[in-house]
Amino acid sequence: MGLKERLEQLRKEGLQQIANSSDPDKVNAVRVSMLGKKGSLTAVLRGMKDLAADQRPVVGKYANEVRNDLQAAIEKRSAELAKNILNAKLQAETLDVTLPGTAVAQGQPHVIQQIIDQLEDLFIGMGYQIAVGDEVEEEVYNFEKLNLPKDHPARDMQDTFYVTPSVLMRTQTSPMQARMMEKHDFTKGPLKMISPGKVYRRDTDDPTHSHQFNQVEGLVVGKHVTMADLKGTLQEVARNLFGDDLDIRLRPSYFPFTEPSVEVDITCFKCKGKGCAICKNTGWIEVLGAGMVHPNVLQMSGVDPEKYGGFAFGLGPDRFAMLKYGVEDIRDFYLNDVRFLTQFNEKG
Ligand code: DAH
Repeated sequence: MGLKERLEQLRKEGLQQIANSSDPDKVNAVRVSMLGKKGSLTAVLRGMKDLAADQRPVVGKYANEVRNDLQAAIEKRSAELAKNILNAKLQAETLDVTLPGTAVAQGQPHVIQQIIDQLEDLFIGMGYQIAVGDEVEEEVYNFEKLNLPKDHPARDMQDTFYVTPSVLMRTQTSPMQARMMEKHDFTKGPLKMISPGKVYRRDTDDPTHSHQFNQVEGLVVGKHVTMADLKGTLQEVARNLFGDDLDIRLRPSYFPFTEPSVEVDITCFKCKGKGCAICKNTGWIEVLGAGMVHPNVLQMSGVDPEKYGGFAFGLGPDRFAMLKYGVEDIRDFYLNDVRFLTQFNEKG
């Protein structure tokens, strides 16, 4: 076979193989087998030196054409295949955004947190700041600075989880009173704060107590703060949480850090004061403790009781939730049974 025929044969074979190649690797393999260093076309080109001088330019031109044809076919086929691959990929990855999605179960704040959130909204609206304290507290702040010196009998009910002899799990949120007063610049205006958080006490094995529960402390200290301000504020709280038609009443009580101290009752929201099982036929339900901040407490936090004074209160969101939803065992709030917890969803 003459060189020309051989070239023609190679061109045919090559074009055929390129056309039949179903992926870029195969196209490349054809390229190597024909145009590579040891390729069949390269071999023919090398044999040209044996041709007669007048044949060389003719065959050479022809050989170049064959090589160019093959090269062009290779490029074209490679591009085609690359495009096919991309299209297949795009096809495979198509997202039908109209298909229904997979529903994600939606959570909700814990029922106690819902009550705290509601209280925070209310108090922020009245110009209070929210101050969050530490659950591990110094004894000095938890007791001493609240007018509960060592050996004070009122400590007995609370003296409990100690971390070191002078550090304990706080038994009340009241230490935030002292901490906030110490930091506040009273020449710039009154201090108005609430402080929600967890507190810890010795467990008494009964359904209305838990070794850990929540409190929301309230404190207003400034000039000319009166007990009427306290009553008006608590009236707002009661109505906001339990209903607009409720009244509150204050009864004398005792707390070491307030003088005078009061126990605050609200009209029974169930019977509206007529008397029922919830209010034990009194028409009233006890909801929180409060009072006018004791001068000793002011003084120990560096506040001059001659110039400034105010009120404080402490309420239990757990107790509020129990009353509001008729829950009889406080421990249900802490068992994390979602069947129980999902019943309470204020926001619907
Ligand atoms: N700290 C009190 C307790 O845990 C609750 C309390 C009562 C807080 C009266 C106050 C208050 O700020 O004025 O029993």
